[in-house]
Amino acid sequence: MTALYRAAITGLGAYVPEKVLTNADLEKIVETTGEWIRTRTGILERRIAAEGQSTSDLALPAAQEALAGAGLTAQDLDLIIVATASPDMLFPSAACYLQAKLGASCGAFDMAAACSGFTYALSVAEGFVKSGIYKNVLVVGAETISRFIDWKDRGTCILFGDGAGAVIVSRFKDGHGILASYLGADGTQSSILQIPAGGSMIPPSAESVAGGLHSIKMQGPELFKIAVKTMEQAVRKVLEHEKLQVKDIDCLIPHQANSRILQAVADRLAIAPEKVFTNLERYGNMSSASVPVALYEAVKTGTIQKGDLVVLVAFGGGLTWAANLLKW
Ligand code: UT7
Repeated sequence: MTALYRAAITGLGAYVPEKVLTNADLEKIVETTGEWIRTRTGILERRIAAEGQSTSDLALPAAQEALAGAGLTAQDLDLIIVATASPDMLFPSAACYLQAKLGASCGAFDMAAACSGFTYALSVAEGFVKSGIYKNVLVVGAETISRFIDWKDRGTCILFGDGAGAVIVSRFKDGHGILASYLGADGTQSSILQIPAGGSMIPPSAESVAGGLHSIKMQGPELFKIAVKTMEQAVRKVLEHEKLQVKDIDCLIPHQANSRILQAVADRLAIAPEKVFTNLERYGNMSSASVPVALYEAVKTGTIQKGDLVVLVAFGGGLTWAANLLKW
């Protein structure tokens, strides 16, 4: 089906909380060393939301900056999608809280695809705009994932951080915009990365709390291998769609999970390391916020220039993986 319109990112915003948690701080909490964390993950520090700061609170300044960048007000929005694995509540959605805080009056819902959430949500926004249903969609990746960490589990607590990134997806006339998106999932691998309790399968109880079932459980080494394979596959899929090759990519924005994963993906794609944007040394893995915050920084620092071919790619719990191909 030929699309009626082109969808493009017309505004960007990002916000990270003030509190910095360094590797040296973590040495005092669990049995680890800054050297182990740095060499095994590439992470030096991450941000942690203040007490009382919820996911929609982090999303708000990022969304306001994206709106201002696009030259829009909250009233111009037709839809708000918040990708998050750590919403304010089970319901209402973080998107509804954000809608109220922004003073918007459009539809709003959350997208649950864990760390791939932003790339998934961007493709949903692309569909709404391309089909002509909506003109302006706000897409946010926002997490207070630190609330769901077992601070005694050194295999996970060193990895994650809080933050939010936002984009406006609007109708666009010239040749720029989202060229292709690809979504993948494998629900048979759900146990590799999950927060087991708090839903209908294991409702909250004294036992679930005592058993630590409300925090992230992860099989790190297994996930590592799948992440490398699926991110490579997702990048190739969006390129194939437009009959492009890896050498055509100007900037690859991968989910910021682990520098060794990013290195392995770059090796498999045979893409020059300088084309792979990383900021995980400063923020760790911000789940669904990783990709939009990295995109924001790549644009603001001039790493991405108008006309560049950009690929966003992510993987996460579900398992899920996804990519978007953009002409900037
Ligand atoms: O958004 C998606 C979220 N998750 C990911 O992307 C995670 C993907 N996986 C990874 O990034 C890596 O698997 C980890 C960083 C989580 C772990 O690195 P690894 O090289 O796979 O280590 P490992 O789990 O195989 O553990 C190696 C050793 C173990 O000790 P022994 O059994 O060899 O004595 C661990 O107990 O390292 C130990 N270890 C640590 N040591 C110091 C695990 N975590 C730590 C730690 N500090 N923080």
